[in-house]
Amino acid sequence: MRIVVIGASGTIGREVVRALADRYEVVSVGHTSGDIRVDIVSKESIRRLYEAVTPFDAVVSAAGQLRFKPLESLIDDDFQFCLSNKLMGQINLVRLGVSYINDNGSFTLTSGILAKTPLPGNVTASMVDSALEGFARTAAVEMPRGVRVNVVSPPWIWDEPPAGIKDPSIGMTAVACAAAYVECVESSRNGETLDARDF
Ligand SMILES: NC(=O)c1ccc[n+]([C@@H]2O[C@H](COP(=O)([O-])OP(=O)(O)OC[C@H]3O[C@@H](n4cnc5c(N)ncnc54)[C@H](OP(=O)(O)O)[C@@H]3O)[C@@H](O)[C@H]2O)c1
Repeated sequence: MRIVVIGASGTIGREVVRALADRYEVVSVGHTSGDIRVDIVSKESIRRLYEAVTPFDAVVSAAGQLRFKPLESLIDDDFQFCLSNKLMGQINLVRLGVSYINDNGSFTLTSGILAKTPLPGNVTASMVDSALEGFARTAAVEMPRGVRVNVVSPPWIWDEPPAGIKDPSIGMTAVACAAAYVECVESSRNGETLDARDF
């Protein structure tokens, strides 16, 4: 299987690459680093990426930027940034990738526990993460040729719980988080959001 990992240099992405690379051919894609680059905000850049890496069997996205501010400080441009980047960037990886990906391939996107857990200052993350999970749920039933779409929802990624954290269940290591991405690639799951803490 040939797997394209977008965000391969990131905290989560590099552990996903590590978890997959000994069994599969992994194509590591970055934004400002690496040999193969993409800007998920640009549909033209995504198209160029797929032309360059085709054929492939799976796309894993561990990319997508947000702006975090209290609701009253957010301006229109902050919302637009989050919608164009983490939300539409990942959705466009599926919309454009579906005509390139091999039969029975899979897309795995990244949301976050803020979709379900409200935390002050994180309204943009809640909005985008929830929308990604909704997108995958229904896009999955429209995919042709056995292609699957899933989402991994990571908690707070840390090596150790920071001082003062009373509930360690709100976080995990990136190494452990990678297991949920492997599950999405290797299983027959479709349209699901996997809470990374369950794997
Ligand atoms: N870390 C957490 O605690 C946490 C928790 C929940 C959810 N998440 C979500 O998990 C995802 C990855 O988070 P992370 O902490 O691993 O991020 P990170 O360490 O900041 O890494 C981001 C990765 O995405 C790439 N990237 C950035 N902008 C891009 C763009 N416009 N187009 C294509 N690639 C782009 C970067 O490439 P370059 O390095 O080459 O620039 C890098 O490889 C994000 O969607 C984040 O919201 C993270």
